[in-house]
Amino acid sequence: MSRSVDEIMELAPVIPVLVIERVEDAAPIAEALVAGGLPALEVTMRTAAALDVMREMAKVPGAVVGAGTVLNPRQLDQALEAGAQFIVSPGLTEPLGKAAIQSGVAFLPGTATAGDIMRGMDMGLSRFKFFPAETSGGLAALKALAAPFHMVRFCPTGGIRADTAAAWLAEPAVKCVGGSWIVPKGPVDPGKIEALAREAASLSR
Ligand code: 3PG
Repeated sequence: MSRSVDEIMELAPVIPVLVIERVEDAAPIAEALVAGGLPALEVTMRTAAALDVMREMAKVPGAVVGAGTVLNPRQLDQALEAGAQFIVSPGLTEPLGKAAIQSGVAFLPGTATAGDIMRGMDMGLSRFKFFPAETSGGLAALKALAAPFHMVRFCPTGGIRADTAAAWLAEPAVKCVGGSWIVPKGPVDPGKIEALAREAASLSR
């Protein structure tokens, strides 16, 4: 089933950003996140295992698996082939933007400036990742950008943590946030991941 970018952004207040090295970790992590109330899972294409991780996670009931760190049309094709239901990129290039729009997949490209947003709008986009959120001026910058672009909605990502997510989510232009804090580095602890997911899923927006 193909979901719109708004449907993806509305699944939960937080999209976990996942960097997974081992395919065998995919199912336990996805199960814990879904059980905790975070169904949208962004698997970053930064590891050799990423495509297999997406395939494994897609088998977990309730999981809506997407690809992150998608940098070009070749990686877009690989992610779609692996079953990605949404695509996240740290930035927006014309080749990637055109290919993603043509594919019809839900697409969240990164923006950090007014010019980035305007280039995206020229392509017909109005939903963006705001990246890297904390170091691009934080919430103050997001608020300033949201004023002229009142039709645009964001998923800020980059440096957001459990104790700062609520402030971002209180901003009307923010539909959800992304972050890696829900799955701590190191050996997989499903109980811990589920607890962190539950806390993130309970944030209001
Ligand atoms: C990323 O692409 O790594 C995300 O922005 C995650 O950032 P974080 O690790 O600061 O949550």
